[in-house]
Order: sequence, then C-alpha cells, then structure tokens
Amino acid sequence: SKHLLGIKDLSTEDIRLIFHTATNFKEVINRPIKKVPSLRDITIANLFFEDSTRTRVSFELAEKRLSADTINFSASSSSVKKGETLLDTVNNILSMKVDMVVMRHPAPGACQFLAQHIDANIINAGDGTHEHPTQALLDAFSMQEQLGDLEGKNVAIFGDILHSRVALSNIFCLQKLGAKVRVCGPPTLMPKFIHKLGVGVSYNVRETLQWCDVANILRIQLERQNIKYFPTLREYAQYFGINRQLLDSLDKKIVIMHPGPINRGVEITSDVADSEHSIILQQVENGVAVRMAVLFLLAAKG
Ligand code: CP
Repeated sequence: SKHLLGIKDLSTEDIRLIFHTATNFKEVINRPIKKVPSLRDITIANLFFEDSTRTRVSFELAEKRLSADTINFSASSSSVKKGETLLDTVNNILSMKVDMVVMRHPAPGACQFLAQHIDANIINAGDGTHEHPTQALLDAFSMQEQLGDLEGKNVAIFGDILHSRVALSNIFCLQKLGAKVRVCGPPTLMPKFIHKLGVGVSYNVRETLQWCDVANILRIQLERQNIKYFPTLREYAQYFGINRQLLDSLDKKIVIMHPGPINRGVEITSDVADSEHSIILQQVENGVAVRMAVLFLLAAKG
C-alpha cells in the first residue's frame, strides 16, 4: 500500500523491512551530519486535529533529517474553527503541491476515509481509539533492541486498554513478530472485543509483571471518557499503578516502557519511570529513525 493506516494491514516482512531501514537511519542521525537528501523533492503536511508532543515533533524532525519540505497544521488555529470540513481542508492544502500527509485525528477511521478520497500518501499519526501504527513500530523496535528477536517473548500491556490506540497497534505488531501478549487493567477499562484478539487478559498486576519480559504501561485517558470515571485515579494508582516496591518484589528484572505522556503517580510512579530499567526516552529517540524509515519507504512507492 502507498499508505500506513494501521499495523493490521502490514505483513511481518513489511515490519522487518521498516526495522532494518530504521536501524540504518538511526546510525545516520547519530553522526555529526544528521541529514540525508533522500526526500529532497518531497513536500509533507503534518495535520494535527488532536494535541501531540512526541509524535508531532518526531515526524517533523524525521522529515527534516530526510531533507523534505514540511508544513505544520494545527486544527485549533485553523479555519476548521470556522466550520471547514476535513476533506475541504486537506484538498486545499494538497492543491499547493503537497505529496504526503501525516494526520492525527480524534475520529477512528479518519485516515482510512482520507485515503479513499485523496491521492497523496497518508500516514496515520493516531486516529481516535483505533490505531497509532508508528508508536507500535517504535515500541517493538525498542523492545527488540533490549531483548533481541521478539519471537516467544512475553510482553504485557498495562492500563486503559479500552481507550488506547497504542494498545491495539501494539497487539497487532507484537503478534506479527511472534511475541506473546497479555493485557492487564481494570475490567472497566477492557474493551468487549479483547477476547477476540488472541491475547491473554489479566486483572492481576503482580502476576502479570512476574510473567512478562517487558511492561508497556499506558496512560489513563481521561479526555476520552464521557462517563464518571471508575475506578478513580487514586484507586487506579493503588490497585493497578506500577511502583518500585512492586518491581522489587519480583524475582526478575523487566524492561519498563511508556508511550507518553505520563500521568506520574497514577499508572506509574516517578521512581519507576526514571529508573535504570525504564527505556521511555529511548523509545522517543527511536521514534525519529522509525518514522524516517516509514516516510522513506512510502515515498519510494510514490
Ligand atoms: N506517544 C504519543 O503519541 O505522544 P503524543 O500524544 O505526545 O504525540
């Protein structure tokens, strides 16, 4: 495909090619001269209809390292505020000779919709509660750096599975790489379809920590919850939060990950997030190389 809409559409070979390419780009961006001319004649629009720090900065840097021309669009300061539709907005931007679109949008399926109606390459930077493919790629790439091949490795995803596009994309990606996946969180934050995804489901944090090689800890997404929250944040931290005492009680060391942004003291305590076992900032570092790989490989498809 000329798009990256979700991990569901990728083959294991596609993922391995992205990782191989990302490894090469990671070496490039650690040199004194970080730029390559690969996308010199390509113009990329970063369209953000929802807030972002990491994904947005990471895509922009990846594009600049590849020598692409970039424009950054925030819906909150645009004519979307005056009622302009998504399709009108994107078509107007594309008429200025833009080749690729990176889009984050609160509606699940928004990138799929765009891919059906416009001609440019589309990269999903997170569509509502659906998928966040580049996050899953950078997560799996970072796990592989720590653990080697993920075939047969145990990966646990903790937290708000119900509202998380990161959980869904991680599950698809890790399964395609042969990892065993277990999700763990309160029953109220588990989607009804979880049992159809071929993952283990646990409500016991300690038992799941003892099982896993790596813990990917997700944020409680208060902004997506329109019902009164249960459990409360205090209850969540008490029964599902991951803290130093819990990790010290295990008879093994596990790799700690979080896609960010962190709710410190809720799903993870600072002494865990900032510990020697945490690779949270390495994930962010790897995001640039992984996104360079995705942009480069899609641009080659025209
Ligand atoms: N991990 C992630 O998507 O972070 P942002 O929302 O800040 O982009």
